[in-house]
Amino acid sequence: ALVVRHRMKSSGKWAQAISILKEFEEKCGTNISKLKQVADAMTVEMHAGLASEGGSKLKMIISYVDNLPTGDEKGLFYALDLGGTNFRVLRVQLGGKEHRVVKQEFEEVSIPPHLMTGSSDALFDYIASALAKFVATESEGLHFSPDRQRELGFTFSFPVRQTSISSGTLIKWTKGFSIDDTVGQDVVGELTKAMERIGLDMRVTALVNDTIGTLAGGRYNNPDVVAAVILGTGTNAAYVERAHAIPKWHGLLPKSGDMVINMEWGNFRSSHLPITEYDQALDAESLNPGEQIFEKIISGMYLGEIVRRVLCKMAEEAAFFGDTVPAKLKIPFILRTPHMSAMHHDTSPDLKIVAAKLKDILEISNTSLKMRKVIVELCDIVASRGARLSAAGIVGILKKIGRDTVKDGEKQKSVVSLDGGLYEHYTKFRTCMEDTLVELLGEEVSNNIVIEHSNDGSGIGAALLAASHSQYTEADES
Ligand code: GLC
Repeated sequence: ALVVRHRMKSSGKWAQAISILKEFEEKCGTNISKLKQVADAMTVEMHAGLASEGGSKLKMIISYVDNLPTGDEKGLFYALDLGGTNFRVLRVQLGGKEHRVVKQEFEEVSIPPHLMTGSSDALFDYIASALAKFVATESEGLHFSPDRQRELGFTFSFPVRQTSISSGTLIKWTKGFSIDDTVGQDVVGELTKAMERIGLDMRVTALVNDTIGTLAGGRYNNPDVVAAVILGTGTNAAYVERAHAIPKWHGLLPKSGDMVINMEWGNFRSSHLPITEYDQALDAESLNPGEQIFEKIISGMYLGEIVRRVLCKMAEEAAFFGDTVPAKLKIPFILRTPHMSAMHHDTSPDLKIVAAKLKDILEISNTSLKMRKVIVELCDIVASRGARLSAAGIVGILKKIGRDTVKDGEKQKSVVSLDGGLYEHYTKFRTCMEDTLVELLGEEVSNNIVIEHSNDGSGIGAALLAASHSQYTEADES
């Protein structure tokens, strides 16, 4: 009788764990009609954000980029790409229409975590000195003119209120950065002061978001690029808008008639978004509660953490991992999205990668195959919701620019440049996002929409924009 009762108890627990999972799945639901509502809401908010400053959760930031690269860009330029746990410095030799990118070198430097929440000077000093070291490796003869100042495109992937193509103030930090004294400051000023402190003579000629850099880099390679999306640590999008469709723009109408907009879609919010209790708790305990809600259910910084939270609840309330809750499972952000991705893609019959991750990261051993299958299913629920919502966001943009329908058999291609680790490395996320786009747009329209991976577009893009906004004219070229 004792044995029977014990078995009853554990099967009851199993059922309870499964019901926690099923309830979560239901709350994460993204059927087509819901996604269409999200896409429509995105379009509506885009209009509102363009109408007036503060008109929407979508900031729809004017980038001051009204000309995208043409291929004519020439000369030696630097770029600095800061936006996640790493930053990169690049040196690009541009050779104009005929020679394009003649040479390109880069270095990646990781940011010590304490600098992400320390002081502004400490962060910018660190960046400036890494840049100086890189500049010092410039080979003789590459820098064409000794009396010409080196120029830099600065990709700074946080919300910045641009005041010109080469200046702008930080609105707020996102993605785990939190340094109070930078908020409200001109980030080009902060970088320039740091460069001066260490005696590095360089001028920032373009300040861009990574979405803008990716759009510029994408356009350099393909004239049909109309938008760029980042799916990485954070998520965001930029696109080419008609300047006269931006009521809040009071400047001159650019010659091109265009203006690139940094949407900051990570901050998008809508009652149509499927938000669960786990998302609410994650948000409440985050560095930026109430902000970046779209980002918190889509991007790489958070997906693994959502999985951890659901597993934690299954452990606590349904003894999913046995009578005690594994201690490691209680540590926020211990389960990162790359771990989740590895588990999600495990194709071995006994799910040994899942077992290995659980053991290495969470110190959980002795899991049954049945349990490991549940964990893979959980990863699938979280990744699919993010992927499908990002597809809905892209459809929102296509609607705004009138590229979501086919006008009398027209074959006009619309290319969207994609970049970011989530897109690049999380295969199931990427394919789900792409499949959902087809599902939302239909076969005929989808044939005209191309998703293109922009390989390190944001760095090259910043260098290209630094070139087109150089203080020197063509005539100065030697
Ligand atoms: C965050 C930043 C945004 C950036 C995105 C992708 O959402 O606020 O500026 O583009 O991450 O890196």
